[in-house]
Amino acid sequence: MGVLRGRLVVLCLLIICHESVVLVCHGGITSSFVRQPEKTIDMPLNSDVFKVPHGYNAPQQVHITQGDHEGRAVIVSWVTPDEAGSRTVIYWRENSKYRFSAKGAVLRYKFYNYTSGYIHHCTVKNLEFDTKYYYLVGVGGTTRQFWFRTPPRVGPDVPYTFGLIGDLGQSYDSNRTLAHYETNPAKGQTVLYVGDLSYADNYPFHDNRRWDTWGRFMERSVAYQPWIWTAGNHEIDFLPENGETVPFKPFKRRYHVPYKASGSTAPFGIRSRELRHTSLYYHHILHMENTLLSLNGLKRSFQRLIGLKHHG
Ligand SMILES: *[C@@H]1O[C@H](CO)[C@@H](O)[C@H](O)[C@H]1NC(C)=O
Ligand SMILES: *[C@@H]1O[C@H](CO)[C@@H](O)[C@H](O)[C@H]1NC(C)=O
Repeated sequence: MGVLRGRLVVLCLLIICHESVVLVCHGGITSSFVRQPEKTIDMPLNSDVFKVPHGYNAPQQVHITQGDHEGRAVIVSWVTPDEAGSRTVIYWRENSKYRFSAKGAVLRYKFYNYTSGYIHHCTVKNLEFDTKYYYLVGVGGTTRQFWFRTPPRVGPDVPYTFGLIGDLGQSYDSNRTLAHYETNPAKGQTVLYVGDLSYADNYPFHDNRRWDTWGRFMERSVAYQPWIWTAGNHEIDFLPENGETVPFKPFKRRYHVPYKASGSTAPFGIRSRELRHTSLYYHHILHMENTLLSLNGLKRSFQRLIGLKHHG
């Protein structure tokens, strides 16, 4: 469920799929699309949207999310399949010849008999507001280039458009949903994601290759604009009979949020100063109590509050 208050320009799209997500907002209805009620089939592993990029160790599953409290940082994440490769992101302002670089961290994880690729996370800081940046990953090997635009400085009457998406998965309908978001004339600038990402847990042993296919599928949007993540029940990935007893293991390793930058101690909680003194509070189902406790403090520091909550 999401609640949006205030005069935000909101692109309300796509409330979909397997479990119900309820939204209340003042953004209006921007599409007459209603998804077919029947359960849809997942796109097969050899689908075009899951294609591995060309080149040895080419970075794949590139995604960005907000990297700080006010919109001047971005966390760039990607996966290299063969070896760790460079941890560096090179980035520059549009029309500028100065190149900056930042170095991130790399990790791998195992889930039952699956071993992930090399998962990189690199925070790029001190960005200018309302500026287009290009960035490169895979430095020194197969490089790939993307871009994003930072949000304008916080202030009164600065419009900003959020997309709201949840329960996406990787079916043919997921692909249609993403295309609707991309082609919507309201042009979402950041997605607030309301939980349930890949649905890899629908597969035997939670086949984590389906986390990789989801990452490759989503790259066409999330490499170019931040998606801000809320975890749902499909991120729990709890499989004690196969020795997987740490909840949220794949999700936490793959999809980062700037919880430290926002003063939160919990990886599922971020506070974010968005535009027009909007704050976004993002939390996880298991952190409900902490969330409620800290809401009072938050309300004092922000004029707007957006809550996202996933009901499993
Ligand atoms: C993991 O185990 C399952 C069930 O035994 C098997 O079908 C699958 O091929 C295995 N995967 C790997 C990467 O070994
Ligand atoms: C997914 O959607 C894109 C964009 O509309 C399209 O090019 C692609 O062929 C689709 N793939 C599948 C498997 O539906």
